[in-house]
Amino acid sequence: MNNSQVIIITGTSSGIGLVLAEYFGKKGHKVYGLSRKHTESSFFRSIPTDITDNNAVQNAIAEVLKTETRIDMLINNAGMGMVGAVEDSSKEDILKLFNLNLVGAVQMMSSVLPKMRENRSGKIINVSSIGSEMGLPFRGFYSASKSALDKVTEAMRYEVYPWNIHVCSLHLGDIKTNIAENRVKTKVSEPYKNVFEKVYTLMNSHVGEGTEPLEVAEYIEGLLGKNKWKAHYYFGKFGQKIGVPLKWILPQSTYENLMKKYNKLS
Ligand SMILES: NC(=O)c1ccc[n+]([C@@H]2O[C@H](COP(=O)([O-])OP(=O)(O)OC[C@H]3O[C@@H](n4cnc5c(N)ncnc54)[C@H](OP(=O)(O)O)[C@@H]3O)[C@@H](O)[C@H]2O)c1
Repeated sequence: MNNSQVIIITGTSSGIGLVLAEYFGKKGHKVYGLSRKHTESSFFRSIPTDITDNNAVQNAIAEVLKTETRIDMLINNAGMGMVGAVEDSSKEDILKLFNLNLVGAVQMMSSVLPKMRENRSGKIINVSSIGSEMGLPFRGFYSASKSALDKVTEAMRYEVYPWNIHVCSLHLGDIKTNIAENRVKTKVSEPYKNVFEKVYTLMNSHVGEGTEPLEVAEYIEGLLGKNKWKAHYYFGKFGQKIGVPLKWILPQSTYENLMKKYNKLS
């Protein structure tokens, strides 16, 4: 990316989104950050927005277009985690999760696409997870919400390529952020208590030992230099990325045994 681009990033009040917004702002791009909480920064303009509220999303995009004639890129980064056994998960929590991780991201895309089509150019990155490629124990709905977003990404690629609009899923491994504190945690019923606590402690320690968010920013910058995008990119530690091809290469029982070991279930 040589010239200054107009970039909208969601979820910029913390974690990966904040680092991305400051990184691209420092590189001279015009960055707009959409989160519920406002962030004061000299590198990007924060527009407080709840992306699950479609009116708020429309207003935020209208605000951007008061000063901009194009939207070069959307990074759909806002999202949250959810932990708990499938059996214990309430309808309210499941809907809350999908409303943000899937519906919110879709509303963002729908709101920037008209401008991208008008300019016959645009790039959209949907921040997904390596965990969208497999049902993670005690994170089934998180995996499912990101997996649903991946499928939407794949479908959209066929729909928007005539206007030179590129869309991809960026599957991240564990990244060192506060995602663990911001997760929805369902109540844990008696039968799952012991095993849940083990897996929960482990998943939080993986985030604590995760890759630095700055490396995600550098990786995305590398993607921006490419003329053609694949549907899926994987970024993270080798031990996590390798789980994706192994799922298809190994016999299913061998793969499940590996996952049990990795998650300390056996
Ligand atoms: N960290 C990891 O290990 C990891 C791994 C794989 C994928 N990811 C994905 O990476 C993305 C960023 O996660 P993170 O680790 O940076 O987590 P984080 O620190 O918890 O950041 C989440 C961001 O989303 C925003 N957000 C939440 N609800 C929102 C809403 N309704 N409207 C607008 N913004 C909202 C939050 O801001 P407000 O609360 O101010 O709204 C916050 O800025 C997520 O999609 C996550 O699933 C993370």
